[in-house]
Amino acid sequence: MSRRFFPFRFSPAGLRGLEPSATLVINERVNEMWREGQWVYHLGFGESRFPVHPKIAQALRDNAYQHQYLPSLGARELREKIATFYEERFNIPAMPEHIIVGPGSKALIYALLLALDGELMLPTPSWVSYQPQAHLVGKRVNWIPASAEDGWELRLSAIEQAVDEARNAWGNPGIVLLNSPNNPTGRMLSMHFLEDFAQYAREQGLVVLSDEIYGLVEHGRVKHRSVARYYPEGTVVLGGLSKHLSLGGWRLGVAIFPPNRAGAEVLRAVRTIASETWSATTAPVQFAALMAYGMDPDVWEYIQLCTHLHAIRTQYLWKQLAEIGIRVPQPDGAFYLFPDFARWREPLARMGIRTDTQLAMFLLDKFQLATLPGSVFGAPPDALSLRLSSSYLDMETMDQAQAIVDKAVEGVADDILLREFHPNMNAAIEQFRRFVAMLETDKVPDPSPVPVLAL
Ligand SMILES: Cc1ncc(COP(=O)(O)O)c(C=O)c1O
Repeated sequence: MSRRFFPFRFSPAGLRGLEPSATLVINERVNEMWREGQWVYHLGFGESRFPVHPKIAQALRDNAYQHQYLPSLGARELREKIATFYEERFNIPAMPEHIIVGPGSKALIYALLLALDGELMLPTPSWVSYQPQAHLVGKRVNWIPASAEDGWELRLSAIEQAVDEARNAWGNPGIVLLNSPNNPTGRMLSMHFLEDFAQYAREQGLVVLSDEIYGLVEHGRVKHRSVARYYPEGTVVLGGLSKHLSLGGWRLGVAIFPPNRAGAEVLRAVRTIASETWSATTAPVQFAALMAYGMDPDVWEYIQLCTHLHAIRTQYLWKQLAEIGIRVPQPDGAFYLFPDFARWREPLARMGIRTDTQLAMFLLDKFQLATLPGSVFGAPPDALSLRLSSSYLDMETMDQAQAIVDKAVEGVADDILLREFHPNMNAAIEQFRRFVAMLETDKVPDPSPVPVLAL
């Protein structure tokens, strides 16, 4: 240990090899570039940007006086509302006694990984934080392979093989993490897959952590179904307000445990961790969440409007990139795309670009495109994949986000909204077009005409 840090010394147990979360790092880098007056098309950060619904904002104001510590499980009234919401919207069994409310689903996933025994089985690619969280709690991760050629589809045969391999290596693969709609691919698991998977998980006695934080952000192609409908006894469902209501900064997540004795035991463990760490979720936010989960018709209409806007913006970006010739699976939900550039492996190698991180840095430096390398999601670096988020473009400021909502409410047609009120989205697509043209001709283009930054 270097004397430089004296008297602080760090515990290598969970931290060794870890860096701050890549999504937050790229966001900070983009903000820094913006502060310096540089232009960046921010496709790096998956934050839903729609304004807070006025009724929910009012509920928070009305409850600002609530300053007591609430139970670690969360306010009873809120858990009742959440149970009804999940039963009605997602058709899964949910009891208030088997629900915990936490400061974001991220903290709840961490508590679950800390509480549960067994190695973690993670589909390739997976959201950036699962693997580091497992690392922090000293849990081994086994990746379930998938490929760009196959649209990164999660296949049951791949899960079975990865579980078998872990067992053959004397491992204990006890937990499978599913995330549908998916970050980073935007894909959703089909009913057929869920039925087969449930049967397998039951036979093998696996625990399923089902991250359904994007469950309401569907694009209308596939209906979101929770694995808890097929495997209720072994599934913990995770969700929250961050995505469909754009309330990430309010930090409210939920976990719904199986309606049986085993579920009650796991909840007891997570509740113990909660009570010894964050104690309880912020009281005014919990009371405001009563409005968010209360199925108020205006709030519900707003969720549907925001979902529609996420869907058209993401599908538009997907279609335009696919037309340029970039391989990118069509998303079914959320606000992400996961293209890969392996097709241009040779011209990229001639430019010294052999990994996805080099590719992401090149696009940021030369084309003002902020993206995330696929390898932070567990994809092989030489697959040359990137994660793009559609959620930021043309919603860089609150006023811009409000303007898009206003246009949609006025009834501006989707195609006009996308063509005429999304200058940055269209300019970012143009940058990809120029990049691909460069790869096709092996010629570095002239510096791009970038807009002047006026924030
Ligand atoms: C797949 C996935 N799970 C969980 C989270 C965390 O959500 P929360 O704000 O509830 O902690 C995110 C946020 O980006 C996510 O993409």
